[in-house]
Amino acid sequence: MKNNKRREGFSSGLAAFFATLGSAVGLGNIWKFPYVVGENGGAAFLLVYFACIILVGLPVMVSEFYIGRKTRKNIMGAVKELTTKKRWRSIGIIGILAAYFIMFFYTGVAGWVYSYVFKILRGDFNGATAQSVQQQFTNTTAGPVAPIVWQIIVLTVVSVILIGGVKKGIERITKTLMPVLFILIIVCDIRALTLPGVKESFSFLFKPDFSHLTSQGILIAMGLAFFKLSLGMGTMVTYGSYFTEEDNMFGTAAKVAISDTIVSLLVGIAVFSAVFSFNMEASSGPGLLFMTIPLVFSKIPFGKFLLIAFFVLASIAATTATISMFEVLIAYYTEQKGASRKKAVILNAIVIAFIGAFSTLSVGETSLLSGVTIFGKGIFDIFDFLSSNILLPVGGLLMALLVGYIAPKEDIKRELSNNGKLKIANIIDFYYFVLRYISPILLVIVFLSSVGVLEKIIKLITG
Ligand code: PFF
Repeated sequence: MKNNKRREGFSSGLAAFFATLGSAVGLGNIWKFPYVVGENGGAAFLLVYFACIILVGLPVMVSEFYIGRKTRKNIMGAVKELTTKKRWRSIGIIGILAAYFIMFFYTGVAGWVYSYVFKILRGDFNGATAQSVQQQFTNTTAGPVAPIVWQIIVLTVVSVILIGGVKKGIERITKTLMPVLFILIIVCDIRALTLPGVKESFSFLFKPDFSHLTSQGILIAMGLAFFKLSLGMGTMVTYGSYFTEEDNMFGTAAKVAISDTIVSLLVGIAVFSAVFSFNMEASSGPGLLFMTIPLVFSKIPFGKFLLIAFFVLASIAATTATISMFEVLIAYYTEQKGASRKKAVILNAIVIAFIGAFSTLSVGETSLLSGVTIFGKGIFDIFDFLSSNILLPVGGLLMALLVGYIAPKEDIKRELSNNGKLKIANIIDFYYFVLRYISPILLVIVFLSSVGVLEKIIKLITG
């Protein structure tokens, strides 16, 4: 009965596209992308990021769709159906662990975004200056009570939508709001183009200087690609399990990757135009978005209205992305463990709120747990680093290997071509080749080089 309800799925290809885009477009575009690009030197890093999307991200996304739509199951159930070998279950374990780790910090940042809507309405940003916005951000994260309360509000909103039935909720919300988000970001860019720092912002984003690129930076670019496209933890397996039999999975993957990248770049242009116009630091970290966008909209007609709209839409993007990662857990607990949907949502939300609070209270110099470090990183950073840069790429690597080497090729062809209805044999062959020989090798190289092993090997060989 429960299964039947889940297997209803999205009502059309368009709905599947918007829902998947709703998962991909989130705080990753609006908050993470600008500051990570800023910290890693701009254009050269971006080129590596694009390469990661094309050579690894897209093949992994199609593979996740394949796993999901073929099995119509949650991540653990799907893997069990594809192979009886126990070791592949690590994909399920990695996915579930990653979902928790990301939610611990992601819901905290979503809380800051929600709180900005409230603060802007209250007039806290009237007459904003570079100094005042920095102070506002420090106050927002310092807490200790408010950031936790906002994080709980985010989890409550997400839980209510999930309990009420994801399908209609997600489908309806994403279909109407994704286009609006897009339009708003364009408005934001039109304003940003009138700022004095716009030229510098373009050369920062589009004129590569490879001297800034490190092997750690390449790992970060790979991690960002996985995080951005919601890959490596089974989100796209879960959403793929909702797709209709007619859905063109290649088309959906390509459209999602392109739209997601465009949204990220548009946000990047707005943020960096403000950075260079107001003499801020491109590498100022997780606060970057919160310290720039209020300045972009300051002192222009309807600025306050636009600022509210921007943060409302950022809140929506954060919410739809959080729903998609939470759904990985809910699908797992309801299908594998037999829990009711309501119980799975509530218990998980409580656990995430509790552990997430430690992460949220570790941000900023004045916060309660700011001095606590694990392997030299704060609690927030360790969850972020472990999930984005380790768990997601490892999960993606294993899924690429599972589909590339374990699943029968004939079956992959049949599923991806919708039983031969789509005439895309060449595309499938190309995808299969990249998935088997290019994506896994690149992933392994990136890992080895980020832990310094590759440099040692090269030195050994070259003497
Ligand atoms: N892609 C989302 C973003 O860019 O904000 C974050 C995300 C959602 C990551 C779902 C992973 C995931 F499974």
